[in-house]
Amino acid sequence: MKQEELTQAVDKRRTFAIISHPDAGKTTITEQLLLFGGVVRQAGTVKAKKSGNFAKSDWMEIEKKRGISVTSSVMQFDYAGKRVNILDTPGHEDFSEDTYRTLMAVDSAVMVIDSAKGIEPQTKKLFQICKMRGIPIFTFINKLDRDGREPMDLVAQLEEVLGIEGYAMNWPIGMGKGLQGLYDIYNNRIELYRSEAEGESYLPLDDNGQLAVDHPLKEESIYDQVLDEIELLKVAGSEFDAAKIAKGELTPVFFGSALTNFGVKTFLDAYLQFAPAPSPHKTQDNQIVAADQEQFSGFIFKIQANMNPNHRDRIAFVRICSGEFDRGMDVTLQRTGKKIRLSNSTQFMADSRETVETAVAGDIIGLYDTGNFQIGDTIFSGKKAVQFEKLPQFTPELFMRVTAKNVMKQKSFHKGIQQLVQEGAVQLYQSYSTGDYILGAVGQLQFEVFQFRMLNEYNSEVVMTPMGHKTARWINPDQLDEKMSSSRNLLVKDRQGDPLFLFENEFAERWFQDKYPDVELTAKL
Ligand code: G4P
Repeated sequence: MKQEELTQAVDKRRTFAIISHPDAGKTTITEQLLLFGGVVRQAGTVKAKKSGNFAKSDWMEIEKKRGISVTSSVMQFDYAGKRVNILDTPGHEDFSEDTYRTLMAVDSAVMVIDSAKGIEPQTKKLFQICKMRGIPIFTFINKLDRDGREPMDLVAQLEEVLGIEGYAMNWPIGMGKGLQGLYDIYNNRIELYRSEAEGESYLPLDDNGQLAVDHPLKEESIYDQVLDEIELLKVAGSEFDAAKIAKGELTPVFFGSALTNFGVKTFLDAYLQFAPAPSPHKTQDNQIVAADQEQFSGFIFKIQANMNPNHRDRIAFVRICSGEFDRGMDVTLQRTGKKIRLSNSTQFMADSRETVETAVAGDIIGLYDTGNFQIGDTIFSGKKAVQFEKLPQFTPELFMRVTAKNVMKQKSFHKGIQQLVQEGAVQLYQSYSTGDYILGAVGQLQFEVFQFRMLNEYNSEVVMTPMGHKTARWINPDQLDEKMSSSRNLLVKDRQGDPLFLFENEFAERWFQDKYPDVELTAKL
């Protein structure tokens, strides 16, 4: 590709993730977006992933589920001259560190909120990671066809709970059974809600923000109420500020109903206008890598193993940060200096995996891996070495003690643990007092996959003893006195040898802080 073509191709990319609490409507919105993109999916492909309420011991089911989840991990479509990549952030029992890491590979995020529930815990966690990255966040408040909270309260909650200003791009005219439409502030029009499409869907507004045509809506009290609310927003609400949106300091707020496909297109059109093209990436030595530079580079943010039990394949997911990928190209893996030919690559389209021939910065490709890659690895073409900044470590919340069932098989047990931990599948800690191995994760599925892979790939049967939820807090080694460990906390070290306490609960942490007020306790992300 010539430089000009490359720059154009990169500028067309929009790569984002949808963050939400389970059941807010992420799947429904995703399916609508794919429809707009003309991607015809086998009905319910995205859905199938959720409904697989498999028994935990049924490994074939997990395999099947993981097979589906890889194809819906990245969904690509073209719309309005843009190439859109949606990265899935699984919820429910699929939630894992991968979910967090996926947010390292996107340029913006869409936050879906259930209008009846407001901001829920999982959204809050995912939001914080986006905020830390300073990426633009777009908010879609869903399920307007049902009765929900007052729109004013929902927008205020953004500021109160998440600490981000919200700017209403549109405003509901009624809710639930009384839903009449959207007052579209940004496009200066009213979008009518109808269960069946009939007549014109948009009504123009005049310069004063009043309906410019005759319509029965004018006679309704809800219309006057909405005009009052719009006035209030103008006086007391945030101002539209594209620069603030770009920095993730202001979130444009859209209302709608994904299920009835109301307001989704309006959202998508505005989103594509303001969402950033692939952003530059920083290297460990503070160099900036522009997305449209000629040299290819990318990093691995996720490795999914055992997708197909017959092949024992692993797929390393690469976010391309710069340049162009061509199948068969040679790259260097920075961590080992090893040269690797990328001939076995895949891209995820709709409900199938396809071999990908070319891709550019902003795209995600999957590389079939035989054990070369680790999470956080950088690959690059050409001679100039590139190493992107390390991926952050996340604070696990669930813990399990782990031992080998067969004491004679310690070797495979240790090998398996080392490799899976290096790969980023789970986190490993060791107790100061007993030397026990303790695994940490953010989601239960990580343990299940660990146990399964230990058996399948390393022939090591493990015994896992749940320790439940803990609050992990790191402590400066200079301040550490082993006597600080008590029955309410457990002193362990992480893989780097850094000490941390696993507190039973927040109360135990507070008790500790009261006792040792000078000791600084820190969390990872
Ligand atoms: P998720 O991926 O965020 O977990 O949510 P998903 O889209 O699966 O939606 C969760 C439930 O909410 C689904 O109902 C879905 O139909 C419903 N839903 C999504 N958007 C809207 C909306 O705009 N309005 C209304 N009223 N409902 C919405 P379910 O009963 O759990 O699933 P299903 O059996 O209907 O598929």
